[in-house]
Amino acid sequence: MASPPPSTAPARLVVLVSGSGTNLQALLDAIGDDPEGFGAQIVAVGADRSGIAGLERAERAGLPTFVCRVKDHATREEWDAALAAATAGYRPDLVVSAGFMKIVGKEFLARFGGRFINTHPALLPSFPGAHGVRDALAYGVKVTGCTVHFVDDGVDTGPIIAQGVVEVTEEDTAEGEAALHERIKEIERKLLVEAVGRLARDGYRIEGRKVHLGHVGE
Ligand code: GAR
Repeated sequence: MASPPPSTAPARLVVLVSGSGTNLQALLDAIGDDPEGFGAQIVAVGADRSGIAGLERAERAGLPTFVCRVKDHATREEWDAALAAATAGYRPDLVVSAGFMKIVGKEFLARFGGRFINTHPALLPSFPGAHGVRDALAYGVKVTGCTVHFVDDGVDTGPIIAQGVVEVTEEDTAEGEAALHERIKEIERKLLVEAVGRLARDGYRIEGRKVHLGHVGE
């Protein structure tokens, strides 16, 4: 699967958030007032809940936002279709799950498969799911980190775009999950910005599990 050939217009990004939105902020800061230079612009921010800092960041940046809550829909499938429709309304080239704590369904993947990326706070395929940092700590790993990957129909199983490594030290106790997560997020924000920028500027190919940046059409 290949992305469309890079055009001169910046790629359109919809970013999905559930929480503090510091990864969204890193993208906003990197794009700044030069979307052409970065190769992408954020056209909307979506969330699965209201009243979160991530949405406030979007509003401060003057971006349109939308909220699509599971509990407002009769079934998970209906929620998924509504999220897909709301996202599609902004005609994104790429959709970025930046701390979006929901698993999307068939409809969303049918529309955005191959251009939907996620950032996860562990070195996949180890420690997928909602508690990557806690699970890695509990396992006693010596290194952990973060993974930017395409989303497929599994939980954090899609092709890997980029990974960053963080050492786990003796000071990282089970109670220190938040501190370790913060160290991971420092690396993660840079990794996400670099990965999104390269996907947008250089194009990419997905061959099986391998993601090739650039060289579209080769
Ligand atoms: C990030 O560390 C991201 O990897 C994680 O939530 C955090 C969001 O931070 N996502 C997951 O755990 C998904 N399984 P942010 O709201 O400050 O960007």
